[in-house]
Amino acid sequence: MSSLHHPAPWNVRRPPRAEGKNVLVTGGNAGIGYFVAEQLAGTGATVVLACRDTARAEAAKVSIRARVPGAHVRHIRLDLADLSSIEASVDALRLDRLDAVVCNAGVLLDQPPRRETSEGHELMFATNHLGHYVLISWLAPLLAAAPASRVVTTGSFTAKSESLDLDDLQSTRDYRPKRTYARSKLAQMLFGFELDRRLRAAGSTTLSVITHPGGALDSLTPSRPPVRLRTTGERLRGLPAGLLLQGKEAAAWPAVRAVLDPSVRGGQLWGPRVFGIRGLPALEPVQGHLADTALAARLWTATAALTGLDPSSTLR
Ligand SMILES: NC(=O)c1ccc[n+]([C@@H]2O[C@H](COP(=O)([O-])OP(=O)(O)OC[C@H]3O[C@@H](n4cnc5c(N)ncnc54)[C@H](OP(=O)(O)O)[C@@H]3O)[C@@H](O)[C@H]2O)c1
Repeated sequence: MSSLHHPAPWNVRRPPRAEGKNVLVTGGNAGIGYFVAEQLAGTGATVVLACRDTARAEAAKVSIRARVPGAHVRHIRLDLADLSSIEASVDALRLDRLDAVVCNAGVLLDQPPRRETSEGHELMFATNHLGHYVLISWLAPLLAAAPASRVVTTGSFTAKSESLDLDDLQSTRDYRPKRTYARSKLAQMLFGFELDRRLRAAGSTTLSVITHPGGALDSLTPSRPPVRLRTTGERLRGLPAGLLLQGKEAAAWPAVRAVLDPSVRGGQLWGPRVFGIRGLPALEPVQGHLADTALAARLWTATAALTGLDPSSTLR
């Protein structure tokens, strides 16, 4: 059993083998999600990239296969901003069980104006929170079919200092892009903790684990042709930031550990150990508003009303 003070030993360069496991990674074509997918493929797991753009997903597959000979990797189309399309994406998985899903995809707009999806939801809240909520709702039977499966939610350190306005979840009254983003990440984290409480109450073996990647920059991230190339100038300009922040290869470590480490428990929060910003994955305390169970339950109810779905009914 792990504890805050005595986490089990973990080697980020040699995670355990995971042949025969099926893992879905949203946004596995770029950034942190790409490296989560690459590192999981390196364990022998079957990795499905869930991406909105087929050409970018193909590029990620090419790169993973070049680095991991014999990698089991494929992709499905998933647009988290189009909630009505997500059921069909899950059907396209053609799996009878899913051992883990890494809810990694995310969008951050740092400039106004406020943008809405075609279904009328604020874009960041819809993509980051509602899309993953709907995805988990449709995935629930596949997760229940795998023993001790895991839902891994990607939060953010920005969520820790943000509060949720349940009366303005979609930032219609007051839109400030960075705050709306941080609130969408907080909603995701609260959902992840509430999901675990509901899984435990239902007697399920599925775990819901929350991770966050710290602060990760493309300029500190190694090249992965044809996915992304880092120029020498970019690498040099990024050097000072490297004292504080990290690249996306390292930012992937908490999620990979959350998928694979047998000592990880449901309801835990994992992030980089140095100030929660960079470094090896470590267990973090769940405190403050992240531990607000009443708030999380109210968010769940509000999300079910917005999406017309409730994974509670299929949790097993
Ligand atoms: N980087 C950081 O410092 C940091 C800090 C805290 C939390 N995070 C979180 O970590 C996660 C990954 O961040 P990142 O830095 O790797 O971001 P990134 O490089 O911008 O990659 C984002 C990924 O999400 C995908 N995506 C965006 N909208 C989507 C949609 N509607 N449907 C499906 N996929 C969609 C993107 O696909 P396309 O390639 O098609 O655009 C891309 O694969 C996000 O959840 C982010 O909030 C990052």
